[in-house]
Amino acid sequence: MAFTRITAAEAAALIKDGDTLALSGFTPAGTPKATTPEIAKIAEAEHAAGRPFQIGLLTGASTGQSADGVLADAHALRYRAPYTTNSAFRKRVNAGEIAYNDIHLSMMAQEMRYGFLGPVDWAIIEVCAVEPDGKVYLTAAGGIAPTAARLARKGVILELNAFHSPKSIGIHDVYEPLDPPLRQPIPIIRPNDRIGTPYLQIDPAKIVGIVECNLPDEARAFKDNDPVTDQIGQKVAEFLLADMRRGIIPPSFLPFQSGVGSTANAILGALGSNPDVPAFDVYTEVLQDAVVDLMRNGRVKSASTCSLSVTNEVLQSIYEDMDFFGDKIVIRPSEISNNPEVIRRLGLIAINTAIEVDLYGHANSTQVCGTKMMNGIGGSGDFERNAFLSIFTCPSVAKNGAISSIVPFCSHIDHTEHDVNVIVTEQGVADLRGKSPRERAQAIIENCAHPDYKQLLWDYLKIADKGQTCHKLSAAFALHDTFLSTGDMHQTDFSRYVK
Ligand code: COA
Repeated sequence: MAFTRITAAEAAALIKDGDTLALSGFTPAGTPKATTPEIAKIAEAEHAAGRPFQIGLLTGASTGQSADGVLADAHALRYRAPYTTNSAFRKRVNAGEIAYNDIHLSMMAQEMRYGFLGPVDWAIIEVCAVEPDGKVYLTAAGGIAPTAARLARKGVILELNAFHSPKSIGIHDVYEPLDPPLRQPIPIIRPNDRIGTPYLQIDPAKIVGIVECNLPDEARAFKDNDPVTDQIGQKVAEFLLADMRRGIIPPSFLPFQSGVGSTANAILGALGSNPDVPAFDVYTEVLQDAVVDLMRNGRVKSASTCSLSVTNEVLQSIYEDMDFFGDKIVIRPSEISNNPEVIRRLGLIAINTAIEVDLYGHANSTQVCGTKMMNGIGGSGDFERNAFLSIFTCPSVAKNGAISSIVPFCSHIDHTEHDVNVIVTEQGVADLRGKSPRERAQAIIENCAHPDYKQLLWDYLKIADKGQTCHKLSAAFALHDTFLSTGDMHQTDFSRYVK
């Protein structure tokens, strides 16, 4: 079947006010980039003419400026799920303009299948090759593409993006599980096992057109390593080596998952460059630049991921070197890359970054001062809840020291005390395994808090009512409260809370 070539503007014109759109991609990697800016233009024109135009947007994870950014700026988003990192989008969400649903990324496709997010009208899928029978080859990410394409009731738009080389064909392992009670075990025993197909089969009758384009991915650049992220990386490496020497981690090591952001990138770099850490596998959702370098020098043996969230230069170098990377990298849909069954079986070491952690080991990945969304939970819950070893890292202070990342009580909790094994800041490591809440509080203040805030945290414990966890509820958010009123947590005075 020969599919019709259409322009991005023609594709966008198909989308009507109230429709829900599902995109391929996971992070800006693999996200379609040609049609969504045209949808934003339509929204602006409709709004100028006094007519409503808003859509729902479903994705695997974050997107770039050409999706979340332009659509948020055009006030074109009514509903959005799951993860985002775009600053324009963040502004609109925190202003209460967009209904935003922050879902564990492993659950996104299943929640779409059950209809919790409403019907999916259109799917836009970025591909590097199309066959006449509807087999398509995805680009730099798996995301929710299989489910999106299957559910789209009005049609599927393909963006054939020449920026992504068909040399990458074979890198994907496309697999969509059945829903309960028909679901089968997911047979991934080793991180780079392949269980599906290298292509996504789309019903050819649903493909309404192909938009040809040549657009680079909108990769985010990371901040360079700094002394704080380097120290965190070193402390993580030393902690893991100590666990290996005492037989907790086997000599062959365990596969790693490492989260998004600058700290995570620095940690993986530090682990890879430590000669005492054996070469390891990666089972993760985002492959960042640090891992690609480690694969080239043999420090990372294989990597299973949901996306190649790398700079464009690194992406092209992977495409050019498929002889080397072809059997080492596998890209999966998010339902599989983040699947709890597989994560538990493989025994992952999961390392993610928190905004803040509290004295008892709860972690907040998402909301600044309990109300303002940063990015979303992403896959951190999928991995931390199910890993063999769940590590959270963060610098001990934020905003030039005005904020302590160790607080009496997290202002929002994404990961509970039951799911967090180890906390690492540049100050040190708190190993929470086997500890009671009171012992945890001691370990976290002693090892992880910044010296400027240690006394304040001890002061809080002194005034806390005793119990299984010790809290003075009226003072539990005193650090946050003080920051909001004075701009600096140092000013906190717990004597005000003593009767
Ligand atoms: N209070 C207020 N702001 C804080 C803060 C705190 N306790 N801790 C960090 N921040 C701010 C930083 O100042 C920075 O702000 P800026 O962008 O204005 O400079 C921002 O949060 C990001 O912090 P940074 O130190 O640059 O860390 P990062 O790039 O490593 O990102 C997270 C940290 C938590 C935002 C990021 O890891 C995330 O989104 N995590 C949730 C999703 C996830 O874990 N996915 C993992 C599976 S791959």
